[in-house]
Amino acid sequence: MTAIELMKERHSIRKYDKQHAMPEEDLNELIEAATAAPSSWNLQHWKFLVINSDEKKQELLPIAYNQQQVVDSSVTVAILGDKEANQNADTVFEKSLENGAMTEEIKNQIVANIHGAYEGEEFAHNEALINASLAAMQLMLAAKEKGYDTVPMGGFDREKLKKSFNIPDRYLPVMLISIGKGNAESRPSFRFPAEDVIIKDSF
Ligand SMILES: Cc1cc2nc3c(=O)[nH]c(=O)nc-3n(C[C@H](O)[C@H](O)[C@H](O)COP(=O)(O)O)c2cc1C
Repeated sequence: MTAIELMKERHSIRKYDKQHAMPEEDLNELIEAATAAPSSWNLQHWKFLVINSDEKKQELLPIAYNQQQVVDSSVTVAILGDKEANQNADTVFEKSLENGAMTEEIKNQIVANIHGAYEGEEFAHNEALINASLAAMQLMLAAKEKGYDTVPMGGFDREKLKKSFNIPDRYLPVMLISIGKGNAESRPSFRFPAEDVIIKDSF
């Protein structure tokens, strides 16, 4: 499948083969593909909380408003956006310094700018949401390519998730993604045709 075919073939699957366990290598490959996503200043605003033990899946079920796929799929990944991704700036730009992409002076300037920007709470929140969402989409496409199905979920109690899974305040639960071997067709899903969503030059 080409990348475009893959995107068009991906649909949310809510019924899974309960017996299927995802090999660790597959999971790592999917997460690695997700982390190839672009991010603002390359700060990589994501963590992936992988929920795959029976006990933790059962704990997640009511938090996800009893959406059965969180129990039946092989794993559910909570995509967490990092509201303090500026803490990564030094490490990321140190690499740029090492590979000669910038001088120490420029690196220090950029890192200072990043810390300044992150003083804005709304900015930090939006950055976590935007950037982690890009990784989430890549995770779903990578899964599809590897023969897995997925369903993204925004329907869950974020505060309860944070409490039950000891998620520090720094991280914003963006969405859950169940991944596994689907054993039912997706629901038909309509899309507006391109001409309805393209605005040329200006509204
Ligand atoms: C941010 C987000 C939140 C969603 N939340 C849920 C959810 O809680 N439960 C669910 O069954 N599907 C959920 N979906 C899946 C959408 O219903 C689905 O993507 C949409 O209807 C298009 O269908 P398709 O994914 O099969 O193409 C969510 C999708 C997104 C992107």
